[in-house]
Amino acid sequence: LTKDRYPHVKRGEFAKLDQNHLKFFRDLLGENRVLNDPSDCEIYNVDWNRNVRGYSDCVLKPKTTQEVSQILSFCNEHRLAVSPQGGNTGLVGGSVPVFDEIVLSLSLMNNIISVDDTSGILVCEGGCVLEYLDEQLANHGLMMPLDLGAKGSCQIGGNVSTNAGGLRLLRYGNLQGNVLGIEAVKANGEILDCLSALKKDNTGFHLKHLFIGSEGALGVVTKVAIQCPAKPQAVNLAFLGVKSFDNILTTFRRAKRELGEILSSFEMIDEQSIGAVMGHLKVKSPIDNHPFYVLFETQGSNDAHDQEKIHRFLENIMGDGTVLDGTVTNEPSKMRAIWDLRERIAEAFLHDGYVFKYDITLPLEKFYSIVDVMRERLGSDVLRCCGYGHIGDGNIHFTVTTKEFSKDILKRIEPFVYEFTSELKGSISAEHGIGFRKPQYIHYSKSDAAIHLMKELKKLMDPKGILNPYKVLP
Ligand code: FAD
Ligand code: MLT
Ligand code: ZN
Repeated sequence: LTKDRYPHVKRGEFAKLDQNHLKFFRDLLGENRVLNDPSDCEIYNVDWNRNVRGYSDCVLKPKTTQEVSQILSFCNEHRLAVSPQGGNTGLVGGSVPVFDEIVLSLSLMNNIISVDDTSGILVCEGGCVLEYLDEQLANHGLMMPLDLGAKGSCQIGGNVSTNAGGLRLLRYGNLQGNVLGIEAVKANGEILDCLSALKKDNTGFHLKHLFIGSEGALGVVTKVAIQCPAKPQAVNLAFLGVKSFDNILTTFRRAKRELGEILSSFEMIDEQSIGAVMGHLKVKSPIDNHPFYVLFETQGSNDAHDQEKIHRFLENIMGDGTVLDGTVTNEPSKMRAIWDLRERIAEAFLHDGYVFKYDITLPLEKFYSIVDVMRERLGSDVLRCCGYGHIGDGNIHFTVTTKEFSKDILKRIEPFVYEFTSELKGSISAEHGIGFRKPQYIHYSKSDAAIHLMKELKKLMDPKGILNPYKVLP
């Protein structure tokens, strides 16, 4: 925790927390919802990937929008920096303090406000855990339009603030499309009610988009209204083994043509990535070893129809050798076991030691090229150099693991990986955001004019810069 932990950032001119500040917070929230003991605050200071840590000794847990408003109004007036936090599953160091920023945890704002069975619109507080929402919606014949490996901990406010993608974006689109309305609290404590639950509402600028994907730098998301699809009657999951990356692309093209209307997810995993899950977490694969794997899911309304289509598709694609091996199931426990092979990759890597994680969009034909190129650059100096991800969205999670952090390895990966992505006109952050780890690289994906306008917006929304300082913008 030395001052030069992050040599490229200096603590801003913010006030230091004192007893008067703590007294205000305790009077407002009560003793139990103000954490001040360093050991209680520890888990709020370290990110999921264990790449970034702060040293805040103040975590606040409001229960209402009014309390969030009063906290921010006080922090703004007293120039206290704040780091909004949801489930702390973010992967770019955006959710934890960098220095001693106050952590504003939304975890106690976890009420569902309404579910409309007919329109499928859910209105809830920002701290609701994604999996909990999905379970509750099932009672109404509905489901959340997004799903990700972190569903058991991540919160909808965090999902919205990162515009999280996940495993079914291919079918249901991103949160920019599905979020109908938002209630947010600005840095000065002002409550902005844009909680419209209407599908169509073109009355002026769409202010909700200021908050979707802004990573807590423009306001705190306290409530959301989301359009939810009907829960499918039939779900099938296939797991395939293929010889080459080209075979994955052929399988994807044909799946879109032959299964288009029921296809709900199309993911890929390479041999080293699956090796981590099988080795460290002892999850078993239902098929033999292959250089690459495809996992595709269908969601439809008639299981017999869907299965007929899937079996015809598999017969053709295995018949001509594009796919070497495969299994398909609609049994929940078997589907869960297959999803584990994909969803638990990030968790498995943590057992290697240090994880260098990249989340990039590349043109599909070049999707896997980053892994090949980096293997050449890094040779046998790393434990793993591999890739997996959302083929359907052109989004690869390129990963390098080592026993422990190495500056030399970091220098051999960055900024090369960003230059490579930029040359191919990709994105240096497909779905995880910029957070603390990438502001200095944002220019690889955004023009100077775009960055300038983002800075102007930040000044307008948060003139004292108290919300998530050191993050998102360079
Ligand atoms: P946090 O991690 O707490 O915060 C993330 C950012 O949002 C921070 O900048 C924080 O300040 C801000 N924030 C949080 N809550 C609020 C709020 N209420 N108001 C304002 N700002 C807020 N991401 C994907 O996109 N797709 C995936 O498939 C995916 N899979 C994952 C799998 C695993 C195993 C893990 C660990 C992570 C995964 N992620 C994925 C990344 C992460 O889970 C998502 O970004 C998630 O949306 C973060 O939600 P959270 O509640 O944990 O937010
Ligand atoms: C995923 O798709 O599994 C997530 O985005 C997390 C990761 O990058 O591993
Ligand atoms: Zn992902």
